[in-house]
Amino acid sequence: LTAAASALALSVSATAVSAACDDGEIVVKFSHVTNTDKHPKGIAASLLEKRVNEEMDGTMCMEVFPNSTLYDDNKVLEAMLQGDVQLAAPSLSKFEKFTKQFRIFDLPFMFKDINAVEQFQASEAGQDLLDSMQRRGLQGLAYWHNGMKQMSASVPLLEPSDAEGLKFRVQSSDVLVAQMEALGASPQKMAFSEVYGALQQGVVDGQENTWSNIYGKKFFEVQDGVTETDHGIIDYLVVTSVDWLDSLEPEVRDQFLTIVSEVTETRNKESTKVNQDAKQAVIDAGGTVRTLDADQRAKWVEAMKPVWEQFTDDVGQENIDAAQEINA
Ligand code: LMR
Repeated sequence: LTAAASALALSVSATAVSAACDDGEIVVKFSHVTNTDKHPKGIAASLLEKRVNEEMDGTMCMEVFPNSTLYDDNKVLEAMLQGDVQLAAPSLSKFEKFTKQFRIFDLPFMFKDINAVEQFQASEAGQDLLDSMQRRGLQGLAYWHNGMKQMSASVPLLEPSDAEGLKFRVQSSDVLVAQMEALGASPQKMAFSEVYGALQQGVVDGQENTWSNIYGKKFFEVQDGVTETDHGIIDYLVVTSVDWLDSLEPEVRDQFLTIVSEVTETRNKESTKVNQDAKQAVIDAGGTVRTLDADQRAKWVEAMKPVWEQFTDDVGQENIDAAQEINA
């Protein structure tokens, strides 16, 4: 190839929509950061892609980019507002720049399990949150579940004091920073794609995540063990841009949104099982899993729960009360 020909080839591949999409189809790029299999979000995204491409063939064409291959979560929302990507499902912890209301989902021991999270999301307060970023150009379409968070580190973690002085990776959320500080640990915000390397090289000593992420990204291989703390949750907001959604013809939009909501219902029912299977896979792969007795667990609650007070104004006492009522 001459230099001119290869430059042309490059520019063609950069502008071509995709090999898989036909001319005239509305291309939906869906960027996310996790594995595609054995992961609640990965499985849901793949099912959504399959259904859109089968049922909307000729009209719409979805391409999923998993594993941070297109954007990591710290960039994807900006890219969406630029029109470079149409769909994403970042964890609720990643919306801090757009709204502080999602902070309720990061508060430690706020929800006893994913069913409680689901009930809160289905309430009027939860549904209102889907529209809370419209002025910033983002529209929430659905909540997708992952599951309960566990803690891991380079040393055994059985009591909160075991975490003292350790460096922990956290998502980009001030609540999670405060939570780690409450343990006397030192939190470091970091993109998901960088966590494995940071644990391996000792840039950080520990992290918190769900079983499906700990297994999917092999964090357990570079940690002393994982402690089943169930101290918080990771859930996702399937999000798009207001402009893109408005640009769709009404029938196209309706069909797309119906598929999104059916996939949500199907996959959310399976999220707990996917995480339980991932926990078993960690054990089968030789990972160490530690559980807490009632006294130990009470100490983690006592150490972390005071964090709520710092964020009551952001999330609203009435929402905290509603969440606690659901737990009861
Ligand atoms: C994380 O950053 O740890 C998670 O939000 C990744 C994910 O999407 O599950």
